[in-house]
Amino acid sequence: MARVLVTGGAGYVGSVCSSCLLERGHQVTVVDDLSTGHAAAVPPGAVFHHLDIGNRLELAKVLNGDRFDAVFHFAAKALIPESVSNPGIFFDQNVASGIALLEAVRAAGIGRFVFSSSAAVYGNPEKTPIEENQNLHPVNSYGETKVALERALYWYSAAYGWTVVAFRYFNACGATATIGENHRPETHIIPLLLQTGAGDRPFFEIYGSDYPTPDGSCLRDYVHVLDIAEAHMLALELPARASFSAYNIGTGISYSVRQICHVVEEEIGIKLNLRNGPRRPGDPAVLCANPGKLMREFGWRPRSSDLPTIVRTAWEWKKNNPRGYCSPREAESVVPSCR
Ligand SMILES: NC(=O)c1ccc[n+]([C@@H]2O[C@H](COP(=O)([O-])OP(=O)(O)OC[C@H]3O[C@@H](n4cnc5c(N)ncnc54)[C@H](O)[C@@H]3O)[C@@H](O)[C@H]2O)c1
Repeated sequence: MARVLVTGGAGYVGSVCSSCLLERGHQVTVVDDLSTGHAAAVPPGAVFHHLDIGNRLELAKVLNGDRFDAVFHFAAKALIPESVSNPGIFFDQNVASGIALLEAVRAAGIGRFVFSSSAAVYGNPEKTPIEENQNLHPVNSYGETKVALERALYWYSAAYGWTVVAFRYFNACGATATIGENHRPETHIIPLLLQTGAGDRPFFEIYGSDYPTPDGSCLRDYVHVLDIAEAHMLALELPARASFSAYNIGTGISYSVRQICHVVEEEIGIKLNLRNGPRRPGDPAVLCANPGKLMREFGWRPRSSDLPTIVRTAWEWKKNNPRGYCSPREAESVVPSCR
């Protein structure tokens, strides 16, 4: 049994990982400022602290209040368009507050750290499928902040003997029976398509129809959130040694935006109102992981990441939670973002 501090455990991926940890008998303490997360997503059984990781004083109290074996660090700002228009807040939250966390972790003597990095570190990939040793050329400040924290973690592992794993997720998606994707604003394709199917949105816009891909729309690698959680469980079992390792989490198979639209229509049985829009600046034509390193070194396999399973689980969650995590009272417009 391990005691794990989970930052961002009220968010989408962090809450699913917290739930998996608890199911396997580990102890979970969540630190989250609820800036984009939801208290209702924190699984029962986890200790919850409503706290900004940049609050050094309060964070130190949490870390000194227990003896943790590992930190899973999900907390971050992650909206790419916002990272382009407002990089300052991304460097403040993801890097400055990230370093505050690392220092608190160091002071508490914890030596195992798992970091949620992103495929955004690669920018426009030099070749696909992408391997971890490609040069990192992020094309937005979000990706740049992920590179910065990866680099800091490399030096922490070298100096303090930490066992560090940086997971570079591709497109996280899907849901469990109790936890689903509920970002506000939502920018991810599957929840947007499901919102369109449910009538919450009048149409879904496909950004770009003239990419050099078979149907002209972008290709992406989609990985079920439970498969991401499984990689985190395996990282907890790595032998302790001073090391920094980065791993892609993706399936190695990419699907076009149009293919996703088609699978969603099939799975939910509703014809969607789709519109063609212009390309979005900075969107590469193809992003596809080579997950070989994670498979070889961890024995990881994507078990839930076939598209129908991804869409079906996300749709089930959407049907059971039509307004996401909003309580009925919030849905009556007390919380503007629930409207
Ligand atoms: N969802 C994806 O497809 C994807 C892909 C690549 C990488 N990632 C990374 O995975 C992590 C989780 O992503 P997600 O989709 O679950 O996002 P999310 O927004 O649902 O979760 C992030 C959580 O962190 C919390 N948080 C943010 N800043 C904080 C701070 N300063 N102090 C305390 N809590 C804070 C938020 O309230 C939220 O609960 C992020 O680091 C993100 O960059 C996600």
